[in-house]
Amino acid sequence: MTTAPHKLRPIRRDHRTDKVSIIDQRLLPHELVVIDLETVSDAVRAIREMAVRGAPLIGVTAAYGLFLAARAGAGRGVDDASLRQAARLLTDARPTAVNLAWAVARVLAATLAAPQAARPEAARRAADAVWEEELENCRRIGEAGLPLIRALHAERGGETVNILTHCNAGWLACVDYGTATAPIYLAAEAGIDVHVWVDETRPLNQGARLTAWELGQRGVRHTIITDNAGGHLMQHGLVDMVIVGTDRTTCTGDVANKIGTYLKALAARDNGVPFYVALPSSTFDWHLRDGLREIPIEERAPDEVRYVQGLAGNRLERVLVPPADSPAANYAFDVTPARLVTGFITERGVCRATEADIRRLFPDKGPPE
Ligand code: MRU
Repeated sequence: MTTAPHKLRPIRRDHRTDKVSIIDQRLLPHELVVIDLETVSDAVRAIREMAVRGAPLIGVTAAYGLFLAARAGAGRGVDDASLRQAARLLTDARPTAVNLAWAVARVLAATLAAPQAARPEAARRAADAVWEEELENCRRIGEAGLPLIRALHAERGGETVNILTHCNAGWLACVDYGTATAPIYLAAEAGIDVHVWVDETRPLNQGARLTAWELGQRGVRHTIITDNAGGHLMQHGLVDMVIVGTDRTTCTGDVANKIGTYLKALAARDNGVPFYVALPSSTFDWHLRDGLREIPIEERAPDEVRYVQGLAGNRLERVLVPPADSPAANYAFDVTPARLVTGFITERGVCRATEADIRRLFPDKGPPE
């Protein structure tokens, strides 16, 4: 365990020592702690227990997890069965974000294609490529989304553009820039007056803990609101646009994202507020067509709902909120149907939420099997 490195990244491989380290997001914003991942089991645990979270980031972590598995056999090399077993463990760590399976399949294929002794190097190269591409994809998402914010700014005669976001789809969830936050950061850098409504995002408060921290670090004006406040704000003309991320989006445009996203989309539609989803192509599931029926929705431990964590004095503490014997249910994601989505902001530009438009942007991604 060390203090944070100079350039903050949610995951990094030290090119000199080969160490893979992550920011432990469970402790943010009150403690900034970096931990090393030594083995594939460390990577699986970090993903499952949400030390790392957010669709692109868990994909990148899984990619490095497979590198750690391949490296474990350095010298003699790792056999196919061990690599496939490591890949399975990583893919199964969380069910909803498709980036996990995508990244693992990619690194696994590159590693298996190499002779046994060269596998650590092949896995390292493939994982680094996933890291670099996700970083670049998010930068491009920012460029694609910026004109949307610029247009709203002009429409509003140069007044503040109010953007609502849910969960954390920022740099902590990716490698840099974020997905939903990338256009916001670029707009702020371009001198556009933006203000972000940050849904606190119960039960784990990714909005209040992570998005608010990120925006504050970069000097972007923001206000944390309860998860139920968005509809009220929209009714009163206080939201110009919603931008969220996603964990898995079907090729037909149905969007799985953090629980509560669907209700924001409904309120946005009722109030004529544009509802955009920002995502890299690694988050499209090219095989699924019906999000509601086909996307697996993670159910997590009820204690995440029953307890809240925060700073008490100078110590992080968890406290029980409901009666000790009341049961709780913890559905982690929901699905917003394509018809409620105004558009997708991707690394290749903006498109409408229809299969035809998505495929026009990504003609190289194969049709569903
Ligand atoms: O449970 P989490 O924190 O992993 O959920 C994350 C989200 O729902 C994000 O909005 C999504 O992964 C997009 S991240 C760029």
